[in-house]
Amino acid sequence: MNTPIDQARKLENVRYDIRGRILDKTEELEDQGHTILRLNVGNPAPFGFEAPDEIMMAMIRNLPTAQGYCDSRGLYSARTAVVQYYQTRGITDVTVDEIYLGNGVSELITLTMQALCNPEDEILIPAPDYPLWTASVSLAGGTPVHYLTDESQGWAPDFDDLEARISPRTRGIVVINPNNPTGAVYSTEVLQRFVDIARKHDLMLFADEIYEKIVYDGRSMTNLASMTGRDVLCLTYSGLSKAYRVCGFRAGWLAITGPLERASSFIEGIKLLANMRMCANVPAQHAIQTALGGRQSIEDLLLPQGRLTAQRDLAHSTLNSIDGISCQQADGALYLFPKLDVDKFGIVDDERFVLDLLESEKILVSHGRAFNWIEPDHFRLVTLPNTDDLATALERLGNFLSSYSQ
Ligand SMILES: Cc1ncc(COP(=O)(O)O)c(C=O)c1O
Repeated sequence: MNTPIDQARKLENVRYDIRGRILDKTEELEDQGHTILRLNVGNPAPFGFEAPDEIMMAMIRNLPTAQGYCDSRGLYSARTAVVQYYQTRGITDVTVDEIYLGNGVSELITLTMQALCNPEDEILIPAPDYPLWTASVSLAGGTPVHYLTDESQGWAPDFDDLEARISPRTRGIVVINPNNPTGAVYSTEVLQRFVDIARKHDLMLFADEIYEKIVYDGRSMTNLASMTGRDVLCLTYSGLSKAYRVCGFRAGWLAITGPLERASSFIEGIKLLANMRMCANVPAQHAIQTALGGRQSIEDLLLPQGRLTAQRDLAHSTLNSIDGISCQQADGALYLFPKLDVDKFGIVDDERFVLDLLESEKILVSHGRAFNWIEPDHFRLVTLPNTDDLATALERLGNFLSSYSQ
């Protein structure tokens, strides 16, 4: 019997290209002995960013008592810390019962989409997006519908486009703020438009705020749920991965606010799925209370001369000095999303461009269409390497592009 052992048909429409063919090629090159500079994942640890000592201690000291399962929603003390944090951010109506801890925001995105989507349901997701959103909606059997964001407006949402895409089947709108991959941080006016549209069309909001503490140039970031009131259901997702540099701990949370009574069936579904996976990684939950209190070391990295700011600035100015590239400045998060002059380089396939750069220069970036962007004219790089490594990488990119034609 040689019948192929196939994957499930439900995966047919699930795409997660930021870890697909290109990563296979990278591993192949590494197996051949090449060193690849990976500028493709927002993972601070390999770039020499360390977690604050208090966070390590909170986990180490609690390890002996972290051996059993805990409440499927998470440790009470950690959930209380999340509530108290949100109270200081203007989200006043959240209680500890509406906080769910997860193995990163990633798990909570897939879990909530599984709990929500019926086959006919549509979820509005930004283009470009963080592609886990699109993949999770597809996996849950729903239909992702992308609304455009506008590069010429600092990557703000195009609300005419968004409203035109609302149908009787639309259930909610995903808002990624600060944004991956564009680096946009939305003003309160922009956030208010989301709330108004949600109210008008009776939609829920999904606020992915994993980069909430990574905003540059003294800007402030408003949590969407501080503006949604009691009538708009808002699911807020955040966690320790980025601001506390512990992606590997897998510590994230979900806060549900708004008309809980109306959403009781959906919330029961979330509870059911949370129970089915027992609980999130318990040692990492012990880090949450410690992380959210006291001095926030991420702020040092965001000072004008702080490491993250210096790296973002160097990458932004160097990219803009390369003939055929233009790049918006990022106001938040850990990425730049530069535009390529496709006519100049004859680019029709952005994945091909990324593979060519990888093979020639041993530098790994991500192609824009992996973020569900509509044209093959962008790529994303992380601004995590130190300035020396970034300068070298971007010099090599410039040299590569000086003779590149697809
Ligand atoms: C916008 C966005 N949401 C969610 C995640 C996943 O975060 P976590 O490590 O908490 O699963 C990422 C990771 O890069 C992200 O960029």
